[in-house]
Amino acid sequence: MHSWCLLSTLALISTALAVPAPSVVSSAPAATPTVPYASDDPNYPLWTDESVGVTPEPIRGTLGAKILGPQNIPMELQNSDAFAPPTTDAGDVENFKWPFSLSHNRLQTGGWARQQNVNQMPVATAIAGVNMRLEVGAIREMHWHTDGEWAYVLAGDLRVSCVTPDGQVYLGDVTAGDLWYFPAGYPHSIQAKNTTADGAEFLLIFDNGSFSEDSTFLLTDWLAHVPKEVIAKNFQVDISAFDHIPSKELYIFPSAPPPEDINSDMVVPNDTPLAYTFAMSKVNATEAPGGSYKVVDSRTFPAATTVCTAEVTVEVGGMRELHWHPTEPEWTYFVTGSARITVYASSASAQTFDFQPGDIAYIPPSFGHYVENTGNEPLVFLEIFRSGLFQDISLNQWLALTPPELVKAHLNLDDATIARLSKVKQEVVGPAKSVA
Ligand SMILES: *[C@@H]1O[C@H](CO)[C@@H](O)[C@H](O)[C@H]1NC(C)=O
Ligand SMILES: *[C@@H]1O[C@H](CO)[C@@H](O)[C@H](O)[C@H]1NC(C)=O
Ligand SMILES: *[C@@H]1O[C@H](CO)[C@@H](O)[C@H](O)[C@H]1NC(C)=O
Repeated sequence: MHSWCLLSTLALISTALAVPAPSVVSSAPAATPTVPYASDDPNYPLWTDESVGVTPEPIRGTLGAKILGPQNIPMELQNSDAFAPPTTDAGDVENFKWPFSLSHNRLQTGGWARQQNVNQMPVATAIAGVNMRLEVGAIREMHWHTDGEWAYVLAGDLRVSCVTPDGQVYLGDVTAGDLWYFPAGYPHSIQAKNTTADGAEFLLIFDNGSFSEDSTFLLTDWLAHVPKEVIAKNFQVDISAFDHIPSKELYIFPSAPPPEDINSDMVVPNDTPLAYTFAMSKVNATEAPGGSYKVVDSRTFPAATTVCTAEVTVEVGGMRELHWHPTEPEWTYFVTGSARITVYASSASAQTFDFQPGDIAYIPPSFGHYVENTGNEPLVFLEIFRSGLFQDISLNQWLALTPPELVKAHLNLDDATIARLSKVKQEVVGPAKSVA
């Protein structure tokens, strides 16, 4: 049975039976509660984009009513938790979902680029993202910018280069699942190799939510705006040498692929103290009960001082556990599968969104959240932080390491539940356990 069917069935059953609260809560004697117990409604997702034959309606249990006005059914199929939210959602939470599909795409000969920054999602003040595509041989031209650049390769092979203020050079090759990082202001280049027929695609992350891919400093744009006599004097050659420089920026343009042998492409051997690429594709994932994850931060990729990541895989029915990141906002990118996230924003505010591949989530620092696989295939996503160090707090571990009587006094849990709390971070949990 498909997992969403199971969820829907459970939702129907639970609505029909309106299961009463357990009558005995052992060893949680307790004083008269000062507030009523939370609702028993499990608030399952009502449908997903994979649901067949569903006409989405803004109805959950006794709440809501059929829609009479116009409907965008494909959008509503993708966003059940916005259209018919769980009853736990409340208050105002700034929008934290942006699909790259809605970003304006800049089409060039040889590739394209589309971006998300604070203009698309005002809450995302710390990080901006760009999705870029280069055909075989195509070049994202030599350029620099005032923000640090971190990248994750989605497909294909690329060669990147970088020169430091100390005149050191780094030339590196990357493949799907690998990373690069260029510090703010360092000049660099990106080119797709011909080892795959279709070239390459990648995700760029900038450590500033106001970054715009359209305002970088470009080699051609600069020289098109310097008097030619100055250019000639600068390079100490005749002015005619610059008869064919472009009159405006190239940005992304086609070219012959670089030589296969990277050593034959080097002017001088690499001499930076740190590598500016990192083969995350070669890192073995850490196994978790419901999936696996790879954390890569400055402890393993020391050059990447301002951006780090966790690449997370969640098996069908599993979930990235309830957690938060103490000081850093999370920019989340969905690679495969379907996900549900509820963000808890303090002050009785929470909102749930559903995500598909190519979508972005942005979760401010310390906001509690989970990432549930609501689809029929493994969910793969990247948690990206503007930080050199990955940090998270697991709710489960926090409760497990706190005196049990203290925890019981808050949540009225029984001893069996207290005993199941995990002193070790789970990170990714498996499908729900049925009541023992
Ligand atoms: C972020 O980028 C904007 C736009 O370029 C710039 O004005 C701002 O100073 C940058 N912030 C930081 C912290 O660098
Ligand atoms: C890739 O490009 C290099 C350099 O132009 C060339 O030597 C090589 O034959 C090409 N390989 C393929 C598979 O096209
Ligand atoms: C990664 O896993 C493979 C296969 O299990 C193993 O051969 C290899 O040694 C591991 N590499 C590291 C760095 O642990």
